[in-house]
Amino acid sequence: MKAICYISNFAKGLSHKTINELIENVNSNNTQEHITGLLILKNKHFFQIIEGESQKIDTLFQKIKKDKRHKGIIKLLDTDIEGKIFNDYNGGKFEIFQKYADMKKLYLYFNWIKNANYLPAEKLIHLTTNFLKHNT
Ligand SMILES: Cc1cc2nc3c(=O)[nH]c(=O)nc-3n(C[C@H](O)[C@H](O)[C@H](O)COP(=O)(O)O)c2cc1C
Repeated sequence: MKAICYISNFAKGLSHKTINELIENVNSNNTQEHITGLLILKNKHFFQIIEGESQKIDTLFQKIKKDKRHKGIIKLLDTDIEGKIFNDYNGGKFEIFQKYADMKKLYLYFNWIKNANYLPAEKLIHLTTNFLKHNT
C-alpha cells in the first residue's frame, strides 16, 4: 500500500461544470478501486491525498499528472504505508471538500489519529493543515 499527496493549480478557465464532472468521476472511480483519501478544492488549488494498493496509486497518479484540468503539480509525499490512514474516516469513502463547513469532521479525525503516533499520518496531517492555513 502507498499514499501520495500533491498540490496543483486549477487549469485556466476551469468551469463549475467541469469541476462537478471531475468530482463525480473521482468519487465513483475511487469507490470502485478502494482508494481512500481527500481532495480539497480551495482558492483555485487542488490538494489531494490518495492511498491504496501501490500499483493502483502509481497508475492513478500517472493519469492525474497528465490531466489538463490542472497544472503545476507538486508532489509533497510519496510513501509506502502499512495500512490506509483514511480507512476509518468517512466510512472508508473518499472525501471531496469544496465547502469548509464540513471540515470539523476531518480535524476531529486528525486529532484522533495523531495520537496513534503513526509517522505517515502525522506528515499527512501536517501537509493538509498547512495547505488549509495558507489558503484561507
Ligand atoms: C485534481 C485532480 C484529481 C483527480 N483525482 C482522481 C482520483 O482520485 N481518482 C480518479 O480515478 N481520477 C482522478 N482524476 C481524474 C484522472 O486524471 C483521470 O481523468 C481519471 O482517472 C479517468 O482516467 P481514464 O478514463 O483514462 O481511466 C483527477 C483529476 C484531477 C484534475
